[in-house]
Amino acid sequence: MGFSKVIRSFLDDRFDTKLAGDLINKQVYKRLPPHTGWAHVFGSLALVLFLSQTVTGILLLMYYRPTPDEAHASIQFITGEAKFGWLYRQVHAWGATLMIASVLFHMIRTYFMGAYKKPRELTWVTGVLLFIGTIGFGFTGYLLPWNQVAFWATTVGTDSASKVPYIGDWLQYFLRGGDAVGAETLSRFFVVHVIILPWILLGTVAVHLFLMRLNNLATMERVGEEKPTPRECGIPFFPVHVAKEAVVMVLLVAVLVTLSVVSPWEIGEPANPLMTPPHIKPEWYFLPSYQLLKYFEGSSGALLGILACSVPFALLIFWPFLDRGKERHPRKRPLAVSVGILGLTAAVFLGYLGHISETDVTFFGQKYHITLMGWPEKITGDVGASPPLIDH
Ligand code: HEM
Repeated sequence: MGFSKVIRSFLDDRFDTKLAGDLINKQVYKRLPPHTGWAHVFGSLALVLFLSQTVTGILLLMYYRPTPDEAHASIQFITGEAKFGWLYRQVHAWGATLMIASVLFHMIRTYFMGAYKKPRELTWVTGVLLFIGTIGFGFTGYLLPWNQVAFWATTVGTDSASKVPYIGDWLQYFLRGGDAVGAETLSRFFVVHVIILPWILLGTVAVHLFLMRLNNLATMERVGEEKPTPRECGIPFFPVHVAKEAVVMVLLVAVLVTLSVVSPWEIGEPANPLMTPPHIKPEWYFLPSYQLLKYFEGSSGALLGILACSVPFALLIFWPFLDRGKERHPRKRPLAVSVGILGLTAAVFLGYLGHISETDVTFFGQKYHITLMGWPEKITGDVGASPPLIDH
């Protein structure tokens, strides 16, 4: 008897392998709605990136040490001496950015295709929790190399927590584990990054995918009028959709390796709590909130600022229960589509302002200094020879 037959008969003696086989075949050979295409690959892309982050994260853990004295040196060791350490560190750092981007594109796809509508409201709600969890990974992971930028960005980030009304001071102390960012903050962020968030995300992904399987992918029909996709017009999950996903995964590996080689993440200088570097900015995915908070400085404005940053998240979670229209097709949902486009444009615009604030830029040959608030101020005079004069 061949080896595969031995395994087969071993399993047949112990399990109802026909039932298991039928269940797997049903999933593999199912038909997806006819509009399923390239836009539907971002969920799986986020999933693969989550797995890649887990593998590269475990490799990093072999050498990483979560204390202020050792963290920076251990990252230097990983990059300079550990076998392929530079590669898995870069793939982890770039993977984080790409995972957040994939989750965002996936969210945008499900939003504009009305896939969050009944009966998939809870798939959307678990999705928003996944989005918040993914950003949490970015925030906590950023501090771990314990370099200047990470230390000060976390100081500024946790400072915003103190502006939350009533519980602000407590919240800031809770996040930092003390009055200032230090050894306790590093331990806390480490535990959240490598234990708490991975398990929460794993559980939430399992629920998200289970719900998605229960309801199947949304069609473009009106709420309540969805019918199972007939075999003749559905897209075969295997091999058609799986082939598309395979192409995207190959591209992902190419992009990750290219970015790691062409644009590696610097380790930077070790954290120095006594020296604040100029112009500390958070990662790109925090720039919109970072910029928005600036317009609400001051004691009474702070509350408004926190509100302005939390309302979009609250709206996002409850959106399927607010938008109760029956149509799914974007052309038939002008209000929801306009709200989506407006929200996206505002986020991109604020993010861009955050990115260029406190820098000098040139528009059509004229140099401008962009203030903290993002306003342009003309720079006049010979910049090279003497300090620039700023036109108010
Ligand atoms: C770690 C993050 C996430 C992972 C791994 C993930 C994974 C997936 C996968 C594999 C699918 C199948 C279809 C597809 O890929 O489009 C799916 C469906 C879905 N996801 Fe996610 N997702 C994540 C985050 C989100 C977020 C942030 C949202 C929205 C806020 C969301 C909302 C949905 C909805 C509504 C569906 C059903 C789509 C349909 O029926 O057409 N997901 N998700």
